[in-house]
Amino acid sequence: MNRTPVIAANWKMNKTIKESREFLAQLVPLVNDINAEIFVAVPFTAIYSSAKEASDTNIVIGAQNMNDHEKGAFTGEISGEMLKEAGAQFVILGHSERREIFHESNSFINKKVKKALEYGLQAVLCVGESAKEREDGVEAKVIKDQLTACLDGVELEQMNDVIIAYEPVWAIGTGKTATPEMAEDAHKICRDVINQKFGKKVAEAVRIIYGGSVKPESMATLMKQEDIDGVLVGGASLEVTSFAKICRW
Ligand code: PGA
Repeated sequence: MNRTPVIAANWKMNKTIKESREFLAQLVPLVNDINAEIFVAVPFTAIYSSAKEASDTNIVIGAQNMNDHEKGAFTGEISGEMLKEAGAQFVILGHSERREIFHESNSFINKKVKKALEYGLQAVLCVGESAKEREDGVEAKVIKDQLTACLDGVELEQMNDVIIAYEPVWAIGTGKTATPEMAEDAHKICRDVINQKFGKKVAEAVRIIYGGSVKPESMATLMKQEDIDGVLVGGASLEVTSFAKICRW
């Protein structure tokens, strides 16, 4: 199955408008000839200017979170419509930092996934086990439960706009990357869940990307795995040369 790779940057709470524009201006000529989709999830404040900077390039701009409501009394929150109008084309949902620090549950993430898809945003849905869950050998169950709950009620055709990011929590920002074999096993589990829920055609087409301390050096072996269709990169996406190297693995 020929799936177009997705190389995604998650800047988290980093970079001002000025810094994002400078970064993108430098990145464009370094990656404009590659055959992959490049996603950059910037802070809310930089979406509009970044989308302008990246227009007519192979880089798409997205957000790192959104609210599941359309509008109303939700101080500090951002809606799908606002993101879309600002120029976002995708949104990261269910990141482990949102799950842990902001106590987001699978059912809340599920509502956001459905709302994002309604607005025509691609949803990059993050799942992954904690260190304790891996130690206890329950990672397959955790991944399966998260995927099943977060994709509840999503229609078959909407799965075109879903990208799954497998991010073992113990590998995020720790410098500990899952071995390519570990990641491949987890990606197979994800694809299997999608197969059971949506059928073979969707399972073969859905892009499943790996996240957790990805560095330029880890790309070649990760990308050789059959079920790894790209990466979600935090730390190493903040510096333009390292992110460009990742894009060009
Ligand atoms: P990291 O972050 O690459 O710094 O581990 C990945 C992520 O949180 O998406």
